[in-house]
Amino acid sequence: MSHERRRPVVAANWKMHFVTKEALEVARTLRRKVGSTAARVVLFPSFPLLPAVVRELVESELEVGAQDLSSEDQGAHTGEVSGRQLKDCGCTWALCGHSERRRDHHEHDALVAHKVAAACRHSLQPLLCVGETREERAQGRTFEVLGRQLTAALAVGPETFSLAYEPVWAIGTGETASPETAQEAHAFLRRTLAQALQERPIPGLAAAALPILYGGSVTPENAASLLAQPDVDGFLVGGASLDPEKFLAIIRVCD
Ligand code: PGA
Repeated sequence: MSHERRRPVVAANWKMHFVTKEALEVARTLRRKVGSTAARVVLFPSFPLLPAVVRELVESELEVGAQDLSSEDQGAHTGEVSGRQLKDCGCTWALCGHSERRRDHHEHDALVAHKVAAACRHSLQPLLCVGETREERAQGRTFEVLGRQLTAALAVGPETFSLAYEPVWAIGTGETASPETAQEAHAFLRRTLAQALQERPIPGLAAAALPILYGGSVTPENAASLLAQPDVDGFLVGGASLDPEKFLAIIRVCD
């Protein structure tokens, strides 16, 4: 499957970094310098920064998403943020099931699946994160884990989603997956999705068209060889996205 069929997506996961002033400086620099690019560029700031970043990027090509959302739409859920509220803020994307949330907040596959469904209900593009731990890879369980995480999300019948393959051992460690390792996982995910959709089609969702991003210690230096892989359609970038020049260099790899 060639890249001509799928527009690359380059996403910045800012995690719990920046206060408003800092976030606006980065957003402003990106807006000024990004120019015309082949990639869709999405920023994922923390909740309190969202309104300011959305305002800063209004009428630009840059899109904004939330790092998480509640599986519920409203009600007595102290500390949660709903898809409806995020849509109201001007978000267009939501991360679902990032490994740090699975690890720190015990988000299991079924909950993540309901978050994907909640994002769809509010017209937010879900970016479902999947990935194996170092231990699971060492045990030869990588495909089992990826298959389970993807299949759980499909069970709720999402209208749409994008995928990020983020091997947990590569996140924030400086140990990037090799292009071959990433390709193997991406191809497996696309194959698994194709098989699942054959059995139970979801209108408007096609495995060949689904963007599958790679995440885990992406840098301007390793981005090109990863993107050269046929099933790697872009990046979810943590650490390197905090420096606008590094993030811009990763975006330019797509051009
Ligand atoms: P990293 O984070 O680029 O710092 O490894 C990626 C992520 O967690 O999305």
